[in-house]
Amino acid sequence: MSDTGAPESALWGGWLTGGDSLLEEVNASVRFDRRLAFQDIDGSVAHALMLGETGVISPADAETISGGLEKVRAEIAAGTFVFDPALEDVHMNIESRLRELIGPVAGHLHTGRSRNDQVAVDTRLWVRDAIDRLDGLLGAAIDVLAERAETHHADVMPGFTHLQCAQPVTIGHHLLAYGEMFLRDRDRLRDARRRLAESPLGAAALAGTGYPIDPVSTARRLGFDTITRNSLDAVSDRDFILDYLSAGATLAVHVSRLGEELVLWSTPQFGFITLPEDLCAGSSIMPQKRNPDLPELMRAKSGRIFGNLMALLTVMKGLPLAYSRDMQEDKEALFDSADQLELIVRSAAAMLRGITFVPERTRFAAELGNAVATDLADWLVTDRGLPFRESHSVVGGLVKWLQVQGKELRHATAEELASYDARLAGMPAEVLTVDHAVRRRRSPGGTAPELVRAAAAELRRRNAALLPSAPSASPLSSRPDQGV
Ligand code: ARG
Repeated sequence: MSDTGAPESALWGGWLTGGDSLLEEVNASVRFDRRLAFQDIDGSVAHALMLGETGVISPADAETISGGLEKVRAEIAAGTFVFDPALEDVHMNIESRLRELIGPVAGHLHTGRSRNDQVAVDTRLWVRDAIDRLDGLLGAAIDVLAERAETHHADVMPGFTHLQCAQPVTIGHHLLAYGEMFLRDRDRLRDARRRLAESPLGAAALAGTGYPIDPVSTARRLGFDTITRNSLDAVSDRDFILDYLSAGATLAVHVSRLGEELVLWSTPQFGFITLPEDLCAGSSIMPQKRNPDLPELMRAKSGRIFGNLMALLTVMKGLPLAYSRDMQEDKEALFDSADQLELIVRSAAAMLRGITFVPERTRFAAELGNAVATDLADWLVTDRGLPFRESHSVVGGLVKWLQVQGKELRHATAEELASYDARLAGMPAEVLTVDHAVRRRRSPGGTAPELVRAAAAELRRRNAALLPSAPSASPLSSRPDQGV
């Protein structure tokens, strides 16, 4: 029995009896929302101290409450806290334990607050931490890309369009393309972080509260920039999760494309890379197999990451203001995406660090498929004064003529070229080499080795300039995530 005489399990103060186990099965969220435990304690400590400061409760009670909450935190950190589904969610579990520890004074904590603004603030804090973790992992992956790009700045590989041989590029250039994607991902995450930095505490159930609270003080304690402007919006907004999930979905597209390329490149038919043995799985029947399971999962995890975004969009659409229980369904999608995103970015970094490029193979592949045809057409423009459309058609005809003889441009002798078209007489043999092709592409962002080397250094610099998103985490505590 509680101090009011109501049974302890009657979370709503004795008005409802509850008790059907189906309700608990569907309704109880503590199985997953316990991951908000540290954020919940941070929010409650900030709220209690503010109540004490403003005189809504006595400063002594505020101290007792925050001291008790720290004890609860220690129990959770030590793994001795027992979460009880009968107490529905993480918020009620913590408050109930607080009451066990400090007695009836715990009942003052929920003054001027509701679980609606409580869960909103907890989740914002959690997403902020998730953003910081993911941002850090991305920063590390970008550094690996920059380093590998620097090493392979002059190694030639085929560049594809339509997965057909297009023009030679350098391995470094190809890797740096992913660097740009990941840098944009970091930027999107920081953008989401900036927008979520509003504290909803004080919105209470939906309409605000009559107590003379100071939400700016709680906001400051929790490391937020400001407070929400509308109490209805404060408790019904989950945009900050959607922002994170959607930035994550775009990131998952990038990781998935990288995964696909690693799968492709590691086949004997491509042979561009060898995979690190410690990150490969074998086959139970085929002794020769070295399977790219990690890149395959980097590719596949995008499915559920997109699904989680779609799930939350669907939950939120059409919900009337303000809070509805539907919104409790935000968390599993959020937690799952955060876990999977962290896994795939770590996998990407580990694979990029572990693969070995085979430059002889990539160079050989770059020489296939008349990939220097554009360079020849360009030479006819710059050295023979042809309009590009005409040189395009000359080289196109030449490629076809050679193909009939089972040859490519690289096989053509000077005599054959001159006999096909007199304007090709005197063409330096170098024009048909892949090194020449990459060297001459010096337009900004182009594949020329010296540009790639500079771009790798520049990427490292731009990555470092995106500092960990300062005015950082809650000044209250460090919060390792509570795994489920
Ligand atoms: N567990 C709930 C959630 O995650 C907390 C808010 C409950 N509020 C309420 N009025 N029932 O959404």
